[in-house]
Amino acid sequence: MRRRNFLYLTGGTLAAVGLAACGGSDGSDSSGGGDGDGKSVEVFTWWAAGSEKAGLDALVEVFAEQYPDIEFINGAVAGGAGSAAKDMLQSRLQAGDPPDTFQAHAGAELNDYIDAGQIVDISDVYDELGLREAFPESLLERLTADGAIYSVPSNIHRSNVVWGSTAALTEAGIDPATPPASMDEFLAQLDTLAAAGVTPLSVGAAWTQVNLLEAILMADLGAAAYNGLFDGSTGWDSAEVTTALEHFETMMSHTNTDRDGLDWPDATQQLIDGTAAYNVMGDWAVAAFDEAGLAPQDGYVYFELPGADKVFGFLADSFTLPEGAPNPEGTRAWLDTISSPDGQLAFNLAKGSIPARTDVDTAEFPEYQQTALTSFAEDEICSSIAHGAATSVGWLNAISDATSQFTAGATDLAAYQQALADIATENQA
Ligand code: GAL
Repeated sequence: MRRRNFLYLTGGTLAAVGLAACGGSDGSDSSGGGDGDGKSVEVFTWWAAGSEKAGLDALVEVFAEQYPDIEFINGAVAGGAGSAAKDMLQSRLQAGDPPDTFQAHAGAELNDYIDAGQIVDISDVYDELGLREAFPESLLERLTADGAIYSVPSNIHRSNVVWGSTAALTEAGIDPATPPASMDEFLAQLDTLAAAGVTPLSVGAAWTQVNLLEAILMADLGAAAYNGLFDGSTGWDSAEVTTALEHFETMMSHTNTDRDGLDWPDATQQLIDGTAAYNVMGDWAVAAFDEAGLAPQDGYVYFELPGADKVFGFLADSFTLPEGAPNPEGTRAWLDTISSPDGQLAFNLAKGSIPARTDVDTAEFPEYQQTALTSFAEDEICSSIAHGAATSVGWLNAISDATSQFTAGATDLAAYQQALADIATENQA
């Protein structure tokens, strides 16, 4: 085990001491991994463009104020939900060329990196920054493995939001102010929208389809049964999952045909343009609506799919200290900024998410985020599949492949459900 470093808090910033060149890297890094002298930090994310980059920029601004002597190196790799970044990250980790910190999701996804020995226990950072008191218990649980903590969250996102275009709905004679009261009513609306000549539901490539699938599973199964899908107490081969998959099939039949070539911003753009009426996506979409000048109610509406319970589809972006990071001092400074009240305020205002800290003043958060704050506090919590909270990277990849085959028409519903059940059996601990 590599020697751990200890941190002082000085004037609100972290200063690392006793830093044995803890990186373990031979310094031959040639891909922007920092110079190893603690004066930089390479931050690996998939927030490469548009509203996501705006969120990252907000964080970088606070970092520059808090740590003016540490250079931020942007290691972003484009592709929503890390669709390209995760593979590239894995290549780098396996080649012994880690960034100083990388974005991962709180929950099952972290276990992949922990099991592979690719990230370091940073419990000491939690102690020194008082983070155990700052984050809610439900989040700490998802960050803890065998009593150790391996990442620091920058936010909490909600995955299961239906977004609607006020204009497209109104044009089709659907009142945007009244969310559908049942799944059947929502499905009937999709028919109405198709007849009106608008794309009823926009979607993109595989991971966005999995995002839609999980929202349906949460709504149809309710929180307890949904959560049971991951510990084996709910069967993926059960009748309630069949119903959810039927709903998924019906919804997918009302989506845009160009979907497989699109990332989430493209699918969301169809709603912004009013060529699509609905889009089921995480609440990073709200930052895209803001950027496009769309206002809640006037430009877009939002609700959760009607179902068994009121459910908050949970995910949190969190940042790690990779084993062998060239600049662990830079990493620790970054972790300090992203977990600080100022960092969490600036980032979440820009990103559409809510602070992971419970002590941030959220009074100035806009309308949508106020609803997310209330839902996270009051509703049932279900971990996202598409965003690594419920499933490991391997499990998610297998679900994505099976989903692509189904939505491409290569398998029928029964075969799809069987594949999901087999995948669960292989992946359940
Ligand atoms: C999620 C991530 C969000 C957002 C989204 C779309 O996995 O947690 O912050 O970036 O992907 O790319």
